[in-house]
Amino acid sequence: VNIGVVIAAAGQGKRMGGSVKKQFIELGGKPVLLHTLSLFIGLEHVKEIIVVTAEEDMECTQELLRGYRGVRVIPGGAERQDSVYLGLKALRSVEYVMIHDSARPFLTRPTLLKLIEALRAKRAAILAVPVKDTIKRTDAEGIVVDTPPRKSLWAVQTPQAFALSDIIRAHERAREEGFIGTDDASLLERMGQTVHIVEGEYTNIKLTTPEDLVFGEAILERRKETGDD
Ligand code: CTP
Ligand code: MG
Repeated sequence: VNIGVVIAAAGQGKRMGGSVKKQFIELGGKPVLLHTLSLFIGLEHVKEIIVVTAEEDMECTQELLRGYRGVRVIPGGAERQDSVYLGLKALRSVEYVMIHDSARPFLTRPTLLKLIEALRAKRAAILAVPVKDTIKRTDAEGIVVDTPPRKSLWAVQTPQAFALSDIIRAHERAREEGFIGTDDASLLERMGQTVHIVEGEYTNIKLTTPEDLVFGEAILERRKETGDD
């Protein structure tokens, strides 16, 4: 199979704050974006990699990725969904795509390979972990409406993997209808397509707020000690 990768790295990192955007922060001496990218480099079925970055970061991103031949950098859009769409449209000759957040640098190869297996069998597969907390739904006033059974709830992550034509169609439909989803799979779900869950790892966190950096450093530290990478 031929798989393309779209890495969404065009966000502003507002919740993280700080002067350096989170995709460029160094963890263990290496920028987050390089941790993320290296997971996909040299992977058997991966034929194209697109990194989507903010217009103003085009130059520094290209510079950062100079050693990674074949990886293409393109400018993104206002919302994550726009950036992903632009990334999808930039792919040239692949049948499948994995869409990944640059802000998830702790993904591991074994998990990625599990996702690729599922993609080949099912056309639409996403990484997720069982939620640990009890989740409640509320109304606009903060009054509890109900408590969905925890067994049915998953916290979803990236990569999310799809047949390229399916996910492009879903993005185009969402754009026409002005729908913005919080992940890519939801755009397919609203068209009635089946999406399969692949159980991922709790360490595949998204660096979102400053305390996530502390957790991130700890994850890297532990991997160094146990020799896993
Ligand atoms: N992203 C993107 N284009 C955007 C917005 C987000 O490519 N217009 C990317 C981010 O770079 C990130 C991923 O989507 O890797 C997940 O988004 P999020 O965690 O929300 O990152 P930011 O948008 O950068 O952070 P914040 O929402 O706190 O500003
Ligand atoms: Mg955001």
